[in-house]
Amino acid sequence: MVRPKLLLPFVIIGVLLVVWGLALNASSTSAAPLGVDRVSAPPAQQTEQYCLSCHSDPNLKTTLPSGEDLSLYISPEHLKSSVHSPAGIECEACHTDIKTYPHPAIDYQTKRELSRSYYQACQKCHSANYDKAQDSMHAQAAAGGNLNAAICTDCHGAHDVQSPNQPRAKISQTCSRCHQDIVDKYKDSVHGEALIQSDNPDVPVCTDCHGVHDIADPRTAQFRTQTPEMCAGCHADPERMSKYGLSTDVYSLYETSWHGVDISVYKANWPTIWHESAVCTDCHGIHDILDTNNPNSSVNPANLLATCQKCHQDAGPNWTSAWTGHNQIDAQRTPFLYAIDRFYIQFAQVVLWLCIIYVVLQIIHAIVDRVRRNLK
Ligand code: HEC
Ligand code: HEC
Ligand code: HEC
Ligand code: HEC
Ligand code: HEC
Ligand code: HEC
Ligand code: HEC
Ligand code: HEC
Ligand code: HEC
Repeated sequence: MVRPKLLLPFVIIGVLLVVWGLALNASSTSAAPLGVDRVSAPPAQQTEQYCLSCHSDPNLKTTLPSGEDLSLYISPEHLKSSVHSPAGIECEACHTDIKTYPHPAIDYQTKRELSRSYYQACQKCHSANYDKAQDSMHAQAAAGGNLNAAICTDCHGAHDVQSPNQPRAKISQTCSRCHQDIVDKYKDSVHGEALIQSDNPDVPVCTDCHGVHDIADPRTAQFRTQTPEMCAGCHADPERMSKYGLSTDVYSLYETSWHGVDISVYKANWPTIWHESAVCTDCHGIHDILDTNNPNSSVNPANLLATCQKCHQDAGPNWTSAWTGHNQIDAQRTPFLYAIDRFYIQFAQVVLWLCIIYVVLQIIHAIVDRVRRNLK
C-alpha cells in the first residue's frame, strides 16, 4: 500500500509542470510574429541584441597590449546583410567564451594575433574547408613566419561574410588585397578583360587555376607539367571554344608535338624533376596572356622569335616559320608543307605497292622455278 502523504510531492511537481507549460506556450505564441511558422523559424537568440547594446556604438574602442587601437564597433548593417546573422548564427556561435561583461582576459598582443586567434571559430561549422586550408601555400607561409598569409577572415570577413563569388569578378578583388601586382596584369589579359568588362563566365579566375582553400605552390615541377591539362580544361572543350571561334587543336596537337611528348615523358617518369621543354605558359605568358592578334602578344609574329629564343638561343629568323604547332597542315596556311605532306603520303603508297608486287613476283618466280626443276 502507498501512503497518500508520499504522493503529495509528485502531485505538486505535476501541477507546477502543467502551469509552466501553459505559461511558456502563451508567451511564445504572443512573441511569434503573425504569419511566421514557429516550428521553422530560427531559434530565438538574444545575444546579438545584448552584445550590440555596447558594440553598436561607433566610438567603442580599446588599446591592445601592442599599443594598436582596435575599434570594437560592429555594424548592425553589415550583420543584417551577412550570410550568418539572418540565418540565426549570432555572436555566441563564434565568440563561444564571451557570455557577459566584463569579458574574460584576452590572450593576444596585436590585431593580427586577434584575427589569427578568432578565425579558429570558423572550423566549428566549416571543418571541410578548414582542413583543406591546413596544407595550403598560405598556411605554409604562415608556418614559415609570414603572418600576413591569408586566413578565412582575410578573404571572407568576419561580421560581413557574403557569398564569395557573386559576381565572379569579386574573386580577383579578394586576391588583390595582397596580390595586387598579379591582379593588375590579369586585368589586362584576354581572360581578365573578358571577366571584368563583361562578367564572362567562360574565362578563368584566380581560383580556377590555383584552387581556393588548398592553393598549392605554383612553382614546382608537378604544377608545371600539369599546366597543359589546366588550360585544356577549357581550350580542349569544343562547346566552350566554338563560341569564340577558337581551335581545340591547340591541345590535341600540342600533345603530339615535340614539346608535348617531352613534357609527358617527364610527367610519367620523373614528375619532380624540372624540365624546360615548353608548356603553354612559356609561349603565351601566365597572368598576362593576350589575344594572339594583339601586337604585344608574345606569340604575335613580331615577337615570336624572341619567345622561342628564351630557350632556343641559337634559333634564326627561319625557325619560327617552321612553327606548325597548333595547326593541322593545310593548303591555304602552309602550301609548301602541304604539298610535301601530300607528296609523301602518295609516294609512300606507291613505294609500298611496288614492294608488294615485287615480293609477290619473287614468290611466283620461286614456285615456277621449283616446279620446272621437278619436271626435269
Ligand atoms: C557592457 C558593454 C558590453 C557588452 C554588453 C559586451 N561588450 Fe564586448 N566589449 C566591451 C568593451 C568595453 C570591450 C573592450 C575590452 C574590455 O573592456 O574587456 C569589449 C571587447 C570585446 C571584444 C574584443 C576583446 C576581447 O575580449 O577579445 C570582443 C570580441 C567582444 N567584446 C565581444 C562581445 C560579445 C560577443 C558580447 C555579447 C556576448 C559582448 N562583447 C558584450 C563592452 C561590452
Ligand atoms: C561568424 C563568426 C562571428 C560572428 C557570428 C561574430 N563574430 Fe565577432 N569576430 C569574429 C572573428 C573571426 C573576429 C576577428 C576579426 C578579424 O579578424 O578582424 C571577430 C572580432 C570581433 C571583435 C573585435 C573587433 C574586430 O572587429 O576585430 C568584436 C568586438 C566582436 N567580434 C564582436 C562581435 C559581436 C558583438 C557579434 C554579434 C553581433 C559578433 N562579434 C559576431 C567572428 C564572429
Ligand atoms: C555556427 C556555425 C557557423 C560558423 C561558426 C561559421 N559559419 Fe559560415 N555559414 C554557416 C551556415 C549555416 C551558412 C549557410 C548560410 C546560408 O546559406 O543561409 C554559412 C555560410 C557561409 C559562407 C557563404 C557560403 C556561400 O556559398 O554563400 C561563407 C563564405 C562562410 N559561411 C564563411 C564563414 C567564416 C569565414 C566563418 C568564421 C569567421 C564562418 N563562416 C563561421 C555556419 C557557420
Ligand atoms: C585566399 C582566400 C580565401 C581563404 C583564405 C578562404 N577562402 Fe573560402 N572561399 C574563397 C573564395 C574565392 C571562394 C569562392 C570560390 C569559387 O566560387 O570558386 C570561397 C568559398 C568558400 C565557401 C563557400 C563554398 C564552399 O566551398 O563551401 C565557404 C563556406 C568558405 N569559403 C569558407 C572558408 C573558411 C571556413 C575558410 C578558412 C578555413 C576559408 N573559406 C578560407 C576564398 C578564400
Ligand atoms: C591577406 C593577404 C592574402 C590574400 C587575401 C591572398 N593571399 Fe595569396 N599569399 C599571401 C602571402 C603572404 C603568401 C606567401 C608569399 C610568400 O611566401 O612569398 C601568399 C602566397 C600565395 C601563392 C603561392 C605563391 C607564392 O608567391 O608563395 C598563391 C598561388 C596565392 N597566394 C594565391 C592567392 C589567391 C588565388 C588568392 C585569392 C583567392 C590569394 N592568394 C589571396 C597573402 C594573401
Ligand atoms: C590561366 C591560369 C591562371 C590564372 C587565371 C591565374 N594564375 Fe596565378 N599562376 C598560374 C601559373 C601557371 C603559375 C606558375 C608560374 C610560374 O611557373 O612561375 C602562377 C603563379 C602564381 C603566383 C606565384 C608566382 C608569382 O608570379 O608570383 C601567384 C601568387 C599567383 N599565380 C596568383 C594568382 C592570382 C592572384 C590570380 C588572379 C588574379 C591568378 N594567379 C590567376 C596560372 C594562373
Ligand atoms: C576557364 C576556362 C579557361 C581556362 C582554364 C583557360 N582559358 Fe584561355 N580562354 C578562355 C576563353 C573563354 C577565351 C576567349 C576569351 C575571349 O575571346 O573573350 C580564352 C582565350 C585565350 C587566348 C586568346 C586566343 C585568341 O587569340 O583569341 C589564349 C592565347 C589563351 N586563352 C590561352 C590560355 C592558356 C595558355 C591557358 C592555361 C594557362 C588558358 N588559356 C586557360 C578560357 C580559358
Ligand atoms: C621553355 C623553353 C622553350 C620554349 C619557349 C620553346 N622551346 Fe622548343 N624545345 C624546348 C626543349 C627543352 C626542347 C627539347 C630539346 C631536346 O629534347 O633535345 C625543344 C624542342 C623543340 C623542337 C624539336 C627539337 C629541336 O631542338 O629541333 C622544335 C622544332 C622546337 N622546340 C621549336 C620551338 C619553337 C618554334 C618555339 C617558339 C614558338 C619553341 N620551340 C619554344 C624548349 C623550348
Ligand atoms: C612553343 C610555343 C607554344 C606553345 C607551347 C603553345 N602555344 Fe598556343 N600559340 C602559339 C603560337 C605561335 C600561336 C599563334 C599562331 C597559331 O595559331 O599557330 C598560338 C595560338 C594559340 C591560340 C589561339 C588559337 C586560335 O584558334 O586562334 C590558343 C587558344 C592557344 N595558342 C592556346 C595554347 C594552349 C592551351 C597551349 C598548351 C596546351 C599552347 N597554346 C601551347 C605558341 C605556343
